[in-house]
Amino acid sequence: MPESFFIVSKDNLELAIDEVVAIVKMYDRFSKIKIISNLIIIQSKTNWNKITERATFVKTSGQILRKMSGLFLDDENFQVLKNTKSFVCRVVNLSSNKLNILELESSMGDMISKFTHAKVNLENPDITVYLIFTNEENFFGFSEKNEDRKRPKKSKKYPHELDWKLTRVMINLIGLEKGETVCDPFCGTGTTLLESESMGINAIGIDFDEKMCEISKENIKINNYKSKILKSDFQELVKISKDFDGIVTDLPYGRSSKASEKPEEILKKFIAIIPKHKKIAIMYKKELDPKMKLKGLKKYQIYRHKSLTRTILIK
Ligand SMILES: C[S@@+](CC[C@H](N)C(=O)[O-])C[C@H]1O[C@@H](n2cnc3c(N)ncnc32)[C@H](O)[C@@H]1O
Repeated sequence: MPESFFIVSKDNLELAIDEVVAIVKMYDRFSKIKIISNLIIIQSKTNWNKITERATFVKTSGQILRKMSGLFLDDENFQVLKNTKSFVCRVVNLSSNKLNILELESSMGDMISKFTHAKVNLENPDITVYLIFTNEENFFGFSEKNEDRKRPKKSKKYPHELDWKLTRVMINLIGLEKGETVCDPFCGTGTTLLESESMGINAIGIDFDEKMCEISKENIKINNYKSKILKSDFQELVKISKDFDGIVTDLPYGRSSKASEKPEEILKKFIAIIPKHKKIAIMYKKELDPKMKLKGLKKYQIYRHKSLTRTILIK
């Protein structure tokens, strides 16, 4: 089975690793996963590119060609470069040893130039060859040139809108698949709807504030997306629960956005009406953490600044 590697950012490491694992399991539940610090090694029938397309915090990824015992590679290892015009070598040192990275990259480049006709191109290579060193084992892998992912557009920025990365990570943590539908009952400017649609997931937004509904609609329109927006109280979600597979939402904080009542009251009421058997990812201010009796929960704390830490709760 093909092996691939994913190096994730060390900020919010647990969240970043769990996101990749959730995506991998969503596509192929029989995948094997090994984690070495911020490196994730996957054995799966799913192509690494498909996983990287969805993941938020992956910095570098590619296919593993083989595990290395030394720097000695043979002709077979360079098959992938046979029809390539340009390449670059990158050493990723996740071990505690000090390595002379520039020297390693250049001797690797010399070796590849001897075996193939490919030329070194530092700026825009067709193929990047990776040597990954860890304290446990070392890997030799590669990735092909990738189109930059198109980001959904927004008409304006608003102070209470949620960072798209946290929104996307919540959608991925609950494994919503292409063609499924998500509901955001506090949709605000529509961040959840935009991120979902950018991954082929349908979306329904609810917000009680007319102005927010208009902003969401505008954001949906400029991206040519199709999400439905309902101007209503969040409790409307009970009536439409057969129309969605999961909920992803960021509850009111009682600061810059309007709220129908105190944020803690909204959270309590919301938790009481969460439909069973749906995938759920919610975010709220950590101090609002009530003593909830929901089973199968995982919580993450996201520090923003000294007066705001958020909880992400996954069911
Ligand atoms: C923290 S904001 C959501 C921000 C959103 N994630 C975004 O990126 O723009 C909370 C939203 O909840 C809405 N809201 C407050 N009380 C509500 C209620 N009872 N029912 C529905 N929406 C409500 C507010 O209008 C606000 O847009």
